[in-house]
Amino acid sequence: MGIDYPIVQAPIGAAATPELVAAVSAAGGLGILASTWPADPVAQVRKVRELTARPFGVNLVLEWDQHERLAALLEAGARIVSLTWGDPAEYVEMVHDAGGLLMHTVGTAEEARRVVGAGADIVVAQGVEAGGHVWSDVATLPLVAAVADAVDVPVLAAGGIGDGRGIAAALALGASAGWLGTRFLLAQEAPINEEYRQRLVSAGEGDTVWLADLFDRGWQGAPHRVVQNSVVEAWEAAGRPSFGKRPGEGDVVAYRNGRPILRYSSTLPLASDEGDLEERALWAGQSVGVVRDIAPAADIVRQLAAECDAVIRQLSAIPRARPAVRYPVC
Ligand SMILES: Cc1cc2nc3c(=O)[nH]c(=O)nc-3n(C[C@H](O)[C@H](O)[C@H](O)COP(=O)(O)O)c2cc1C
Repeated sequence: MGIDYPIVQAPIGAAATPELVAAVSAAGGLGILASTWPADPVAQVRKVRELTARPFGVNLVLEWDQHERLAALLEAGARIVSLTWGDPAEYVEMVHDAGGLLMHTVGTAEEARRVVGAGADIVVAQGVEAGGHVWSDVATLPLVAAVADAVDVPVLAAGGIGDGRGIAAALALGASAGWLGTRFLLAQEAPINEEYRQRLVSAGEGDTVWLADLFDRGWQGAPHRVVQNSVVEAWEAAGRPSFGKRPGEGDVVAYRNGRPILRYSSTLPLASDEGDLEERALWAGQSVGVVRDIAPAADIVRQLAAECDAVIRQLSAIPRARPAVRYPVC
C-alpha cells in the first residue's frame, strides 16, 4: 500500500474528514474516507489529494448498490478501495481495471477465502469488539489468526485495537497492520461532538454494548456497538421492543443544519449538531478502554508506531536460554 507504518485509520463515518485522512496518510499511516454517505464523495477525494500526495483509501458499504459511486471515486483518482457488508465480486473488475487495490472486510476465515478467490487483494478481519457496525460474531484474536492462516494476501486486523500494543498483537497473529476506528475518533481533526469525545476518553473497556438492531434509523438490520447510554437502558427496561414500539420512537432528539434527527438515528454525533448527546448513538469499540488522549492525528500515528515498536523490541529482547515465564506447578 506504500505506507510507512502498519497503521490504518478505519473509515469512521462523517468523522473521517479529508483533513483527518490526509493527516494520517501524511504521517505515514493509511487514512480512509467513509465515502458511502457524503453528498459529494468526489470532492472529498480531491481535497485529500490537495492536502497530501501519500496513499489514502475510500470505503463503500455494500448494503446499497455502489457501482455509480465507485466509478466516480475511481475516476477522481481513488486507488485503494475498501468494501464492506456484502459481496465484493461484482466490483473487483472495476477496481482492477483502474489499477486499484481492493480490500474487503470479512467476518470468518471461510469468507476470507471466498473474497480472495473473487479477486480481493487485501482482507480486513473485523472482530466483534469493533465499534460502529459490526460484521463478525468472532473476537478479533481468533478471527485474525484464522483469516491469516486461510489466505495468502495481506490481512488487516480490526476491532478492539486502541494502542501500539494492540497493533503488535495483531502483527503477532499474522496481520500486516492494525485498522483502528475508535482511536481516531479522538483525533483533533475528527469533528465529533465534544461531550461524545469526553465520553470516549472516560469510558472503560466494559462500557460498550453490542446491539443487533437499535440505532437503526438510516440503516436497519445491521448489528452495531456503542457506549451504553440512557437510550439503551430505557429500551432494555421496556423489554427490548422492536422497531416502531420502542420508548420515545419518533422523538426529535437533535438537529443538523436545521434538519431533525430522530431517536434511534444511526447518525454520528457531530460538533455542529444541536441537541442532547445522551439521546444519540455513541459509536465505539471495546478499544475505548485504552484510548485516553485527544491529539492531532499525526501525533496519534507516531505514538502508535512508537508503542508498537517498543513492544516488539521488548518481546524480542526476552532471553531465550531460559523460560521467560515461570509456570506454577500444578
Ligand atoms: C463512528 C464509526 C463509524 C464507522 N463507519 C464505518 C464505515 O463507514 N465503513 C466501514 O467499513 N466501517 C465503519 N466503521 C467500522 C470501522 O471501520 C472499524 O472496523 C472499527 O472502528 C474497528 O473497531 P475499533 O473502533 O475498536 O477500532 C465505523 C466505526 C465507527 C466507530
